[in-house]
Amino acid sequence: MKQVLIVDDVPAMAEQYAYDLKRVGRYQTSVVAGGEAALDVLAREPIDCVILDLEMPGIDGFEVLRRMHQRGIDTPVIVYTGAGSYDRCVQAVRLGAYGFVDKAEPIERIVQEIENAVSRGQLVGELRSLRSRVEGDQSLIGDSGPMRSLREAIARVAPIPSTVLIVGESGTGKELVARELHRQGPGEKTPLVAVNSGALPEHLVESELFGHERGAFTGADRLRKGAFENAGSGTLFLDEIGELPLAAQAKLLRVLEDRKVMRVGGDRAVPMTARVVAATNRDLEREVEGGRFRQDLFYRLNVHMLRVPSLRERPTDIPALVEHLLRAIATHLGVRPKAIAPEAVALLAGYDWRKNNVRELRNCLERMLIASSATVIRADDVPPDIRGEREDDASDEPGAAGTLKALKAEAEREIVVAALEKHGWQVTRTAEALGLADHSSLLKVMRRHGLRKPA
Ligand SMILES: Nc1ncnc2c1ncn2[C@@H]1O[C@H](COP(=O)(O)OP(=O)(O)OP(=O)(O)O)[C@@H](O)[C@H]1O
Ligand SMILES: [Mg+2]
Repeated sequence: MKQVLIVDDVPAMAEQYAYDLKRVGRYQTSVVAGGEAALDVLAREPIDCVILDLEMPGIDGFEVLRRMHQRGIDTPVIVYTGAGSYDRCVQAVRLGAYGFVDKAEPIERIVQEIENAVSRGQLVGELRSLRSRVEGDQSLIGDSGPMRSLREAIARVAPIPSTVLIVGESGTGKELVARELHRQGPGEKTPLVAVNSGALPEHLVESELFGHERGAFTGADRLRKGAFENAGSGTLFLDEIGELPLAAQAKLLRVLEDRKVMRVGGDRAVPMTARVVAATNRDLEREVEGGRFRQDLFYRLNVHMLRVPSLRERPTDIPALVEHLLRAIATHLGVRPKAIAPEAVALLAGYDWRKNNVRELRNCLERMLIASSATVIRADDVPPDIRGEREDDASDEPGAAGTLKALKAEAEREIVVAALEKHGWQVTRTAEALGLADHSSLLKVMRRHGLRKPA
């Protein structure tokens, strides 16, 4: 049976709708009175369609649509409003609503609209799951300032054929950035060939990159094309470029300069048409100083540099990443997705992911997803090492806008407000849920943000 969620701050209206929809459409219905509660239910329950009122106090219908989009929740939504607000409905559709109905319309028409929305929702879902099975889960999540600048930079350099160097700490998403460059650049109809320079034994690196002729060396019993040739006019992604042996560095430089590849043991040059993207988590300038990386190659690669921010520079992205990764992990493992309590998200957002950034967060979520027996992952399920290592950053001066400190403060404020709202602004209970020492620690934080219980 299809599940329909009705969101309306006027209970009588919502209950009447629920009753009619149950009777005429044979749906299972549930009712909530506000945007916050709606988002909660959507994160937790398999809802097939939402009937959403636009005018509500607090988080209104528009904001619900915005947040659903941010969190990647694609349950179809039908907005309903009183007569005469056509413009607002159009605006809602722009924000992702499937359609709109007038509160005065006969219930049969609304049932029809729900049926249409659900079947389109199913198509979209099937397409998405097919796509994610084919290409893995590859969207770059995050709406923080640093991620927005990164996305802009990607869009700027993607169409340019020059070499791009992607730098950033381990696990920050460099490979995702390379895929995005490919998607927006040469495009998905062309190949993306990835070579991990660090994973190959030294004597195979050159043959892997440039190919070899038959008989070029012992064991080369057949001609083999290299990654440059295989990439055609697509993208060649040289991952962990900092690990490339010096001899191969010299050959790579020559290929980039001549735009021609010569197979190992060969005497005929093949034109090179691929766009080259390289990535490293090493500080290449230091590697150059230390004589481990050729300076000329560094300059040749470093035409455009994209720096992927660490997770510490964008803590406000953590809640959205958590939701996205939990869903991706569940799909990957073939298990039912679980929701996560805001207190647990708060603990994750408070941790300093300096070891492995998003990869470390992903691994942690996978462990939590498997370890938790309930349908909702709770604060208790957060591993103790992550719960314990909260940073003490409680000095009173606010940071300048956009700095790590300001972003952290912003994230902290959001998390604390969400937790307070969830616990009806009961300070002691909220402090407990957030894992703070006592209620006075929470009061201190609230004072710092000028937070007080709404009248
Ligand atoms: N912005 C993001 N949105 C969604 N998933 C992300 C994001 N950044 C990283 N990930 C996920 O985190 C994991 C690590 O990302 P990736 O492999 O691209 O990191 P990397 O920078 O190449 O790391 P390394 O230097 O260790 O090779 C992957 O599972 C990736 O899907
Ligand atoms: Mg990588």
